[in-house]
Amino acid sequence: MLYSTRFTQDAGIAYPIICGPMFPCSNPSLVAAVSANGGLGVVQPMALTYVYGLDFRQGLREIRRITVNPIGMNALIEKSANKYYKRMQMWVDIALDEGVRFFITSLGNPRWVVDRVHAAGGIVYHDATSLKWAQKGRDGGANGIVAVNNRAGGHAGTLSAKALFEQLQMLNLPLVCAGGIGDERAFTEALQMGYAGVQMGTRFIASVECSVNNDYKQAILRASESDIVLTERITGIPVSVIRTPYVERVGTHVSPLLRRLLQYPRTKYLARAWLSLRAGAQLKRSLSAAQGREDYWQAGKSVAGITRIESVAEIMQRFVNSYG
Ligand SMILES: Cc1cc2nc3c(=O)[nH]c(=O)nc-3n(C[C@H](O)[C@H](O)[C@H](O)COP(=O)(O)O)c2cc1C
Repeated sequence: MLYSTRFTQDAGIAYPIICGPMFPCSNPSLVAAVSANGGLGVVQPMALTYVYGLDFRQGLREIRRITVNPIGMNALIEKSANKYYKRMQMWVDIALDEGVRFFITSLGNPRWVVDRVHAAGGIVYHDATSLKWAQKGRDGGANGIVAVNNRAGGHAGTLSAKALFEQLQMLNLPLVCAGGIGDERAFTEALQMGYAGVQMGTRFIASVECSVNNDYKQAILRASESDIVLTERITGIPVSVIRTPYVERVGTHVSPLLRRLLQYPRTKYLARAWLSLRAGAQLKRSLSAAQGREDYWQAGKSVAGITRIESVAEIMQRFVNSYG
């Protein structure tokens, strides 16, 4: 089959396209629509429960009511914050129980997820921005790597898609290109480079099924690459956002006190948790407000290729028709 890659075989899907997990943008209808149209919608558990207010199992079932096709789950596996780690273990177990068989792990050693998921016959891909982190994923048993490049939305990497591919190909694992895929040309280029699939975030935010407010979607359509800046103020680690009047007003750096707290292992997690809570509450307000006042609109440099709000089916068809 034309689109068969190691990744589509691992995930059991028709087309090598992932809708990447997005806090706070992964609403159930968006995740379901991507899977229903032959890609892989990936659940972001914090978004499902905290932003969309669903019990985790009920949220998965809501997605399942729309599609029976495979879906994935994102597991943030940093062990540092014990409370979150326990909750993540519970979510992974529930997802397995509900039939999810594809997991994307971020941060840390994926071994505990891999052990559980492989025992159930599933697959784990690990997020990596460099060879060092990809090797850590491979050593922890990951089946593939989501290679996050320097054009990605969310926590971007530092290497270009090509440089990252060249570094990681020696691992001989399927590689998924995350970052900078906004149109079918970039999609085709990534596959021709040798990637087994792509993970898109920003393109799917500007879709009919994504439930963020229209201001956010319009900001993506208007933005050009040079409007994307990195801010530390959301999580303490640089995140790609659209430069809005709000971002210009508050700046992109944290205060000197927070910076010091972020430097020490014992206070780093508290500082990050505080920032995340603050930003989460802000994002929730700005997503639901008719006019987003506190505008943290996360997006990657793929904004350059995004010119219309389309349904997920239209996006998928356009991309798929462009290849081969
Ligand atoms: C608003 C937003 C939130 C994101 N949240 C997460 C997340 O919670 N976990 C994660 O692994 N990646 C997250 N990402 C990264 C995406 O899953 C994906 O890798 C990235 O968006 C790809 O780059 P693109 O936006 O250029 O398509 C986020 C991206 C965006 C734009």
